[in-house]
Amino acid sequence: MTLVSSRIYPVRWHDNKVSLIDQTRLPQEYTVVEISRCQDMADAIKSMIVRGAPAIGVAAAYGMYLGAKEIETTQTDVFLKELEKVAQLLRETRPTAVNLFWAISRMMRTAYETLGTVDEIRDSLLKTAQDIQTEDLQTCAEIGKNGLAALPTEPKQLRILTHCNTGALATAGYGTALGVIRACWEANRLLRVFADETRPRLQGAKLTAWECVQEGIPVTVITDSMAAHCMKQGMIDAVIVGADRITANGDTANKIGTYSLAVVSKMHNVPFYVAAPLSTVDFELATGEEIPIEERDPSEIYQVGKTLICPQGTEYYNPAFDVTPANLITAIITERGAVKPSDLLGLKY
Ligand code: MRU
Repeated sequence: MTLVSSRIYPVRWHDNKVSLIDQTRLPQEYTVVEISRCQDMADAIKSMIVRGAPAIGVAAAYGMYLGAKEIETTQTDVFLKELEKVAQLLRETRPTAVNLFWAISRMMRTAYETLGTVDEIRDSLLKTAQDIQTEDLQTCAEIGKNGLAALPTEPKQLRILTHCNTGALATAGYGTALGVIRACWEANRLLRVFADETRPRLQGAKLTAWECVQEGIPVTVITDSMAAHCMKQGMIDAVIVGADRITANGDTANKIGTYSLAVVSKMHNVPFYVAAPLSTVDFELATGEEIPIEERDPSEIYQVGKTLICPQGTEYYNPAFDVTPANLITAIITERGAVKPSDLLGLKY
């Protein structure tokens, strides 16, 4: 399979450490943070230096390896016990995106299944982290192809609205929803991307727009509240979003604001697609009601940059994700094809 990539790699393993593009500083500054300790990786995930479900999975996998390197023992049983603590530290960083838990479980499985010395287990852990990263690039390229095939055939060039960032920065380097958009662009099927700014962290305005500009993809940033108006004006042909966790029935947790986008899409007969790898599907959960929703610090709401925008004495509620019910989703696009949410179970390995 040919690997397509954006050449934007949010997580890079080199010289025994991990480099992360600091996504909290884009687009003003492109800076790279070097991580060589597990605790620093946990902090980077928590503070959103690295974010986006698949990228968090890749980062956590390397975090597991960094943690494994810090364990000072040659006894396998002691090592595995300590590694469980490393896994727990990383699990506690962010609760909603299931790729984090999926990647940590896969790393733990590698540790238990490698029959050898502690050094050999460490080597297998590094290999698994690298596999998770490479596989995500391949998986997203497949999602891109499948998405291109699933989108409406008319008009020839589509105007696609997206929410949050689901591009190279949010994955190993290609993207899920933005990967489909990238595939459309490469196939001359894209007229323009409309990027919701995505309050409060502005991943759409800051990151999606940055990626599009890097690659010459025409992009228009709108505020979240403008989406319904744009649809009513006939400016949008399709909506594509990513996912942080999809349950067995197709309910989808994604960045706050996704649910209202799905509601207005239905109202205006605009097809609404979710693009995600199967590692984002949590087949253990029956419906979206069971998905833990992260609540973040209220300062994300009452401050813009360093400026206070609310009066003293206000209360705040800051859920970082919402759940879109399966019945509002036209299709879920995965590496194994695009399916109706009700057919998702058929893709279970
Ligand atoms: O809080 P974030 O920035 O980690 O949230 C990211 C999203 O909600 C993305 O849409 C989702 O992870 C899909 S990324 C390919």
